[in-house]
Amino acid sequence: MIRHCHKADFQTIYEIINEAAKAYRGVIPQDSWHEPYMSKNALSLEIQDGIVFWGNEQGGKLTGVMGIQDKREVTLIRHAYVRPKVQNQGIGTNLLKYLEKITEKPILIGTWENATWAISFYQKHGYRLVDQSEREMLLQKYWSIPDLQIKTSVVLADAKWMQGNSQPTINAP
Ligand SMILES: CC(C)(COP(=O)(O)OP(=O)(O)OC[C@H]1O[C@@H](n2cnc3c(N)ncnc32)[C@H](O)[C@@H]1OP(=O)(O)O)[C@@H](O)C(=O)NCCC(=O)NCCS
Repeated sequence: MIRHCHKADFQTIYEIINEAAKAYRGVIPQDSWHEPYMSKNALSLEIQDGIVFWGNEQGGKLTGVMGIQDKREVTLIRHAYVRPKVQNQGIGTNLLKYLEKITEKPILIGTWENATWAISFYQKHGYRLVDQSEREMLLQKYWSIPDLQIKTSVVLADAKWMQGNSQPTINAP
């Protein structure tokens, strides 16, 4: 069951994020890796900044979470994490499909460029990597992340965003 997360879920969200984020150890730049990957304070600030978490509940327990954040003309999918023991069973897919249904805006997703599994997860769901030339501008415009993370991240976009932002063909006079 997919459900909206409440204040009472804060500790569980925190645990799921940090359990699943262990996948980044040795993969993302060493300076960006710390344990816990996301502190309680950082998570609170993200929620205050407008990220709304949704969770997958099984047997009364949350097994995965995904955040959605409204950013004017686009929607961001933020912090997608599934408990390692139940990854690869469709939970991330269910969460993503659910969030796609609750927004009408084009969707952008940022992730570490070395998190190849996450990139292929999104690509399997129709997202495409945004050109390198545009990615930094988008990360600066819509995300509040450190410079090092901007340099080592990619942006994936859904078909709606791609359609609205493809470069017009310039015809020769
Ligand atoms: C990325 C993540 C959210 C996907 O959720 P999930 O429930 O595991 O994914 P699903 O079962 O719905 O989809 C499976 C697909 O995800 C990818 N995937 C998920 N876990 C994977 C793993 N351990 N290794 C490689 N690919 C994996 C694959 O593309 C897989 O497709 P395949 O079975 O055809 O190879 C989850 O694996 C996760 O929490 N990973 C660690 C944290 C992370 O990278 N988060 C992304 C932040 S943007």
